[in-house]
Amino acid sequence: MSDAPILGPVNLVSDRESAGDFEKKHAPYIDVDEVDEGLLVTVTVGWDVPHPNQPDHYITWIEIFAGDAPIARFDLSPVATAPVVSVVVNVDPGTVVRAVEHCNLHGLWATEVTV
Ligand SMILES: [Fe+2]
Repeated sequence: MSDAPILGPVNLVSDRESAGDFEKKHAPYIDVDEVDEGLLVTVTVGWDVPHPNQPDHYITWIEIFAGDAPIARFDLSPVATAPVVSVVVNVDPGTVVRAVEHCNLHGLWATEVTV
């Protein structure tokens, strides 16, 4: 079981450019592409600085919110999966899409984009 707080404070990284490697390693990176069915949202943890993916240190889950509403959740296993997830969403223009991830050692991290 993880020592990291499941319901602890969320580290929201709003300025990726000035973030350090520790923040870049954990802050989800959100990519949004228009597709026929809606918006394809892809969330990558470790996009510019790779995050460890071993049994003793890994990303346990990624959640996606539209505003305050949870709309998708992915539970991950170390080694066998990479912390990269995609889902097609249908939301109104101007909606804030937030990705939250949980590292078993370093807690909760979030990034937001307006679509
Ligand atoms: Fe970590």
